[in-house]
Amino acid sequence: MEKIVALCANRGFIYPSSEIYGGINGFWDYGPLGTELRNNIKAEWWQLMVRERDDVVGLDSSIIANPQTWVASGHVAHFHDPMVDCKLCKKRFRPDQVDPSDRCAENESGTHDLTEPRQFNLMLQTSIGATEDKASIAYLRAETCQSIFLDFKRVMQSSRKKPPFGIAQIGKAFRNEINPRNFIFRSREFEQMEMEFFTPPAEAMDWFERWRAVRMEWHKSIGLDPTRLHWREHAENERAHYAAAAYDIEFDFPFGRHELEGVHNRTDFDLKAHTEHSGKDMSYTNAETKERYTPYVVETSVGVDRCLLAALASAYVEDEVGGDARTLLKLHPKIAPFKAAVLPLSKKLSESCQPILKALRTRFNIDFDVSGSIGKRYRRHDEIGTPFCITYDFESEEDHKVTIRDRDTTTQQRVPIDGLLEYLATAISGDVG
Ligand code: GAP
Repeated sequence: MEKIVALCANRGFIYPSSEIYGGINGFWDYGPLGTELRNNIKAEWWQLMVRERDDVVGLDSSIIANPQTWVASGHVAHFHDPMVDCKLCKKRFRPDQVDPSDRCAENESGTHDLTEPRQFNLMLQTSIGATEDKASIAYLRAETCQSIFLDFKRVMQSSRKKPPFGIAQIGKAFRNEINPRNFIFRSREFEQMEMEFFTPPAEAMDWFERWRAVRMEWHKSIGLDPTRLHWREHAENERAHYAAAAYDIEFDFPFGRHELEGVHNRTDFDLKAHTEHSGKDMSYTNAETKERYTPYVVETSVGVDRCLLAALASAYVEDEVGGDARTLLKLHPKIAPFKAAVLPLSKKLSESCQPILKALRTRFNIDFDVSGSIGKRYRRHDEIGTPFCITYDFESEEDHKVTIRDRDTTTQQRVPIDGLLEYLATAISGDVG
């Protein structure tokens, strides 16, 4: 894990937020490569969950909603974690997450003197408008799905859908986690990719099973190590109050097996709760059968940041090439920040590379790297996960071909320049890498 964190900081994937002021616990910035990786993961999710389907549409709702939303959803009353304080050093912990090696700075023995557990609400608050009184309190959303429920009728009508259909959203969520930890695994600001699928009640369990299969396949399709992905069914006493069935997709992170994604049958809990609190009917009437019901919801919910961490953990490899140690990010080409790097063998060939760059950049994120020996440039790109290095040499001037080097196998192939775009398109979409 330390190696992944160091690589992320040194190579421009992820840095602590506001680092020059000492950072802020639970908040992270994504650098140039992290931004690309993140965007690629989100694009892959959106492609599968929205664009390739007739029965799912997208939404981009506001982060702050009417605070009644969070009363109706149960978050104001129930979105709590237990918390204990050390009476001596004032440090705060979740009782189930006290690290035994963590020492109290105010006690010679190092042992914390902990209070009894108290409940702590995890929603982050802000205030809206010029006055700061109780009436101005608003919450940064703790999950993206609530606005999907609020907009359910509008989206259904405007997009001419009817159950079974889904609404998908990617967006930031905020939780005042007591112990943000394990790098980006548990943060206070993170991003979710959620899809709420509205179904006739009798069809909910069937859709639940179908979505489970879709979601597991997606993780494998973006290159997560299949041997590290597992299903875990929630025991009845562990399920959220609204859930009739719940499974987590867990991943073997370097710090243990933990939740990556949740798939829930949320029943009609959310739409009924919002009907009750808003006074607006959220039921649906089937125009043909005249049957009226409040749809059940099957939810798939995954964190972008956790997914990105699982992708990095799956991809990080240390091996040897020609007797030299190398660090390699074996990212699936679909999500790799750069799809290829164009490397002129000599600086003098830079100009000749420009038409290649221009053509490839119409479709892909391509780096242009002229500095250092060719071997150094290969290593640099291996370390950031670039699946292909395209070398333009003096022969290229004559035969109009370039050498493509494969990141994982280091094998090289001579390819005509005018076939490059097609070569990359095939290699990226296939299971190469
Ligand atoms: N709408 C359902 C929901 O929000 P959740 O299990 O609380 O369920 C869903 O969160 C996903 O969001 C998790 O599986 C995880 O990937 C991500 N997530 C939750 N809390 C997180 C945090 N503090 N930091 C990073 N990701 C988080």
